[in-house]
Amino acid sequence: MKKFKLPGTDLEATRIALGCMTMGRTWNNEPLDEDTKKSAVVTIRTALEEGINFFDHADIYARGKSEEVFSFIWQEEPGLREKIILQSKCGIRFMNEPRQGDPQRYDFSYDHIISSVEGSLRRLKTDRLDLLLLHRPDPLVEPEEVAEAFDKLYQDGKVRYFGVSNHTGMQIDLLKKYLRQPLVVNQMELNILHPDLVEAGITTNQRKPLHQLRGEGTMEYCRIHGITMQAWSPMAKGLLTGKPALEDNELVENTYRRIREMAEEKNVSPEAIVIAWILRHPAKIQPIVGSTNSARIRACAEADQIELSREEWYTLFTAGRGAMVP
Ligand SMILES: NC(=O)c1ccc[n+]([C@@H]2O[C@H](COP(=O)([O-])OP(=O)(O)OC[C@H]3O[C@@H](n4cnc5c(N)ncnc54)[C@H](OP(=O)(O)O)[C@@H]3O)[C@@H](O)[C@H]2O)c1
Repeated sequence: MKKFKLPGTDLEATRIALGCMTMGRTWNNEPLDEDTKKSAVVTIRTALEEGINFFDHADIYARGKSEEVFSFIWQEEPGLREKIILQSKCGIRFMNEPRQGDPQRYDFSYDHIISSVEGSLRRLKTDRLDLLLLHRPDPLVEPEEVAEAFDKLYQDGKVRYFGVSNHTGMQIDLLKKYLRQPLVVNQMELNILHPDLVEAGITTNQRKPLHQLRGEGTMEYCRIHGITMQAWSPMAKGLLTGKPALEDNELVENTYRRIREMAEEKNVSPEAIVIAWILRHPAKIQPIVGSTNSARIRACAEADQIELSREEWYTLFTAGRGAMVP
């Protein structure tokens, strides 16, 4: 798997990353079972065999169990920690926590950021995160407080680099005004059925845009400022790779048919086409593949071997938006 130097860091990251959201399986307080532990080790091993060295977490995934179960790999593969890049996120809080009646909310307060990272380090059984992202923009953000928390985590050696997720350029600018560390990543939803970041760039000044979008300029902002974009849900949670939609959906069916046809023409998996669509973008976007299935992880990794032409990229973009470009 090809690597790239993540701009603004000394990290040599693989072009494709593994997302660990579903690795801990259930989003409740039940403890991890043996099957989940065994399956996590197989998933991580498969990713490593495919050359993937970048793993994406969040404090909330499976209520902490995804980070916890990941740590079982250290027993299996001693010395691995020095060879991989671990990223986690903080800032989302569940309802009824800590008190009954508390709403689901975002929390970029100093105390929450610090305690969230300490929790991630404890569950991951490691002394540092390579990257920490703020998960979703908190309308009540006080950037001075975020800056203090980042300083503390950086000085204590607990976090090496920082980034954000689901943030617009303007929201990043607000943080940057106060932070003393650069923001090097912005993780956003992007796939052929959710091409909104791309769409925003081509529908400016259209009277009747296909979709009414916000976040215009986010992609360009990140490119200008050397912030690496990461794509979450690159397979649209399976809708682009053969998982049946819950209801009849012509757009999904047509898009998947076009992906399969292209995969057959190129003699690769549909997963490879879907991931290659993201890799083809010149912003050097890093797809965060969320599979726990070994065959599917291998199928996604095949994308590293192909490059779509401009025409192929637009064919898929057009299929996913359900209309030709204006
Ligand atoms: N920053 C954010 O706000 C945010 C939000 C969501 C996710 N993320 C990150 O992005 C990563 C990827 O997200 P994601 O999991 O939503 O995206 P994804 O990679 O688009 O989808 C992976 C999911 O689709 C399933 N799938 C794929 N093809 C399938 C098929 N043919 N039949 C049945 N199931 C199929 C996989 O199941 P198998 O496991 O069986 O392969 C897995 O559950 C996460 O792990 C997380 O790290 C970030």
